[in-house]
Amino acid sequence: MKCVVTGAAGFIGSHLSEALVRQGHSVLGVDCFTDYYPRKTKLANLSLLRNENRFKLVELDLSSAKLAPLLKNADCVFHLAAQPGVRASWGVSFSHYVKDNIVATQRLLEALKGTNTRLVYASSSSIYGDSERSPTPEETTPRPVSPYGTTKLTAEQLCYVYFRNYGSQVVALRYFTVYGPRQRPDMAFTKFISAISAGREIKVFGDGRQMRDFTYVKDIVSGNMLAMDAEPGTVYNVGAGNTIPLNEVIAKLESIIGKKARVKRLETALGDVRNTSADITRISKDLGYRPKTGIDEGLRQQVKAQLSK
Ligand SMILES: NC(=O)c1ccc[n+]([C@@H]2O[C@H](COP(=O)([O-])OP(=O)(O)OC[C@H]3O[C@@H](n4cnc5c(N)ncnc54)[C@H](O)[C@@H]3O)[C@@H](O)[C@H]2O)c1
Repeated sequence: MKCVVTGAAGFIGSHLSEALVRQGHSVLGVDCFTDYYPRKTKLANLSLLRNENRFKLVELDLSSAKLAPLLKNADCVFHLAAQPGVRASWGVSFSHYVKDNIVATQRLLEALKGTNTRLVYASSSSIYGDSERSPTPEETTPRPVSPYGTTKLTAEQLCYVYFRNYGSQVVALRYFTVYGPRQRPDMAFTKFISAISAGREIKVFGDGRQMRDFTYVKDIVSGNMLAMDAEPGTVYNVGAGNTIPLNEVIAKLESIIGKKARVKRLETALGDVRNTSADITRISKDLGYRPKTGIDEGLRQQVKAQLSK
């Protein structure tokens, strides 16, 4: 298959591109290297792909570039390009979230209109906000509590709009907090691992008792692969199906790294949800999704990759 992966130089997009190439697909990676984190880090994410002849990278901005030539003959587009991060989504930076999350997705949907190309959209558990149902099934009313979450939800709903009106072959996957090797530098585990190993203080927002459904990046990749055969118009949670409090993750990191964390507690950050918990019944039943990597093994892999750099 000819696949397009948007956000290919990012954390999850680079893992997905590697897995697709490994399975024999050809991949056109698209990224505009936003400055949310360094270009150098994104280029390093692509290091295993650079010498793959089935992988090609195109540097362009989905919110403004001509997209038709890029999508010609594509069987499947995995749309992961976005401006991520809950805490940075307030104030003047919101315009980046509108541009990279909403406008870019709408332009992609327009460009795919009337084709049979599948679009697998990377949505987020942040669209649920503080859900009353735990674990949270897909039919729960979305009520995001951050500007980031509203842009991810708007883009997801645009996917449905194009499915409903034009029969676009769209599937949306709601990822629950993703971790593993190459996790973004602004995300908690990456920061914790660097700080604990260097004996620096770690900053924990809230009391650390917030529960999260942390999902290993390879399980997210497998959810994407399965979505190639999913019924268009469907939304799926992709999570570990297991929750753990943040404090427990810190204790596990201490034991893997062999050093005690120096914890500085801060107020709960605006826009952070209290708990997340994925109900993965739908994706398990429809597509046979089974998360394979538990938190202990996943953390060991992330620590090993990060500290061997
Ligand atoms: N990491 C998580 O825990 C998580 C959880 C839920 C959902 N998601 C979603 O998964 C996707 C990937 O997240 P990630 O953590 O790998 O982020 P990332 O920032 O590492 O990757 C996103 C990539 O998209 C690129 N990009 C942004 N705007 C673009 C544009 N207009 N044109 C072209 N490229 C553009 C960036 O340069 C970046 O390399 C995002 O859609 C995010 O919202 C991530």
